[in-house]
Amino acid sequence: MSTPIHDRLLIIDFGSQVTQLIARRLRELNVYCEIHPYQNVTSGFLADFAPKAVILSGGPASVIADDSPRPPMDVFDLGVPVLGICYGQQVMMHMLGGRVESGHGTAEFGRAYVTPSDSSSDLLSGWFEGGREQVWMSHGDHVSAIAPGFEVYGTSPNAPFAITADISRRFFAVQFHPEVHHTPNGGRLYENFVKLAGFTGDWTMGAYREEAIRKIREQVGEEKVICGLSGGVDSSVAAVLIHEAIGDQLTCVFVDHGLLRQGEAEEVVTMFRDHYNMPLIHADERELFLGELDGQSDPETKRKIIGRLFIDVFQKHAAEVGGAKFLAQGTLYPDVIESVSFSGGPSVTIKSHHNVGGLPEKMGMKLVEPLRELFKDEVRALGRELGLPDSFIGRHPFPGPGLAIRCPGEITREKLDILRKADAVYIDQIRKHGLYDEIWQAFVAILPVRTVGVMGDGRTYDFACALRAVTSVDGMTADYYPFSHEFLGETATRIINEVQGINRVTYDITSKPPGTIEWE
Ligand code: XMP
Repeated sequence: MSTPIHDRLLIIDFGSQVTQLIARRLRELNVYCEIHPYQNVTSGFLADFAPKAVILSGGPASVIADDSPRPPMDVFDLGVPVLGICYGQQVMMHMLGGRVESGHGTAEFGRAYVTPSDSSSDLLSGWFEGGREQVWMSHGDHVSAIAPGFEVYGTSPNAPFAITADISRRFFAVQFHPEVHHTPNGGRLYENFVKLAGFTGDWTMGAYREEAIRKIREQVGEEKVICGLSGGVDSSVAAVLIHEAIGDQLTCVFVDHGLLRQGEAEEVVTMFRDHYNMPLIHADERELFLGELDGQSDPETKRKIIGRLFIDVFQKHAAEVGGAKFLAQGTLYPDVIESVSFSGGPSVTIKSHHNVGGLPEKMGMKLVEPLRELFKDEVRALGRELGLPDSFIGRHPFPGPGLAIRCPGEITREKLDILRKADAVYIDQIRKHGLYDEIWQAFVAILPVRTVGVMGDGRTYDFACALRAVTSVDGMTADYYPFSHEFLGETATRIINEVQGINRVTYDITSKPPGTIEWE
């Protein structure tokens, strides 16, 4: 493990879907943290990592089941503050001599209100000013007896031990999730926790850049690297960062898989060849990808095919640049966490993001993924730090599998052509109305259904499409954008008039969760 240049907080992951939000809260406080699945956290690891504080995440398991996940007992002997959240709270109580029960009536999901008990603690500074705090609960088991040394600081109707602490040892345990949006004052708990642990907020984008460059040089040495450039923010920032670290040892490969938006290939090639002067291979692989996708309609199959072909194409071009040993990707933290929990931990698969789930086991190259621990908005901040133009940094995210996941059902060239045109009109509308920067991501999905319409005096039987526009902070949760009816009506009219092949336009008003941003 490399020498830390800043204070580090360790989050031990027990497989909660929201563990990464803990990291998000801490990053906002300029605290450097890493998430590691509990399986990897051995006594030796702890000694090496030397955390200044530890957080035990939530998770789906039951503490009282045989072989349930545990941190090593040493966590409690480090002499640093420990915060247990939900499952983390239960595991803490269980290991320190309290009792956890499951069974009928112990589960609690959703909104609850916590009121203070008599005692006060540094952890709760700024809490309970209005008398009670809204929190978000999501647990099956509950603590029925707290461990020796702990006292109760907050209770809810169904959780008598909602907040407990052993002040002398600086151990804190909460039954709810302070990291989620539905615990509105949760950020304050993290702020208090890192303050009492002595963090100074020394982790900034400048520090990240420095450390990332150092790590890239360490990892790569004198070897050559190829970078999959999509023209999106992530791969662009990754490429510029890696270029800054190793210069011409880097060659970028831009794969045109036939699933790009209108004019995209030209824009990317011009930008990186002319503006950045980077060695760039423009791989026209449209036939290959569209050929292999022909007749496939299952979303996971499509993703896996695209993932596999990406790697094949990269390997081919790696050979062209004289045996590159490394493949760089702009994989982000959310890409990683939704496929498997961080570094191979235990959370449920939602989608196989191509840059993770589709990777063949026996890939001949090692990965360089300098953005793997960053959220989208942090990547943008890093891009700014690296001097990338705002036009690039402000671009809406575009997924690796491209239009494939906006074309539910079978992908055909005809549908892709229609989709590209409709998407271009939609984005043009958004820009003309000055809404582009207010929206996290906007696109059209072409639906696998034809509908009957009437244009002029004739009957039409064309595709329906759905417009999608969402607001989000990190892509993990999202809400639909509240366009005016006027805007929607005008856009629908333009698309139907200007795009042959579409005769019906709908607006998708699903939030995430329960939906996802993309359609597949
Ligand atoms: P979902 O659809 O999972 O998307 O809510 C969340 C964010 O991730 C993007 N996305 C991807 N990005 N490879 C990527 O690089 C992928 O396979 C992929 N799938 C989804 C999506 O566009 C949104 O910004």
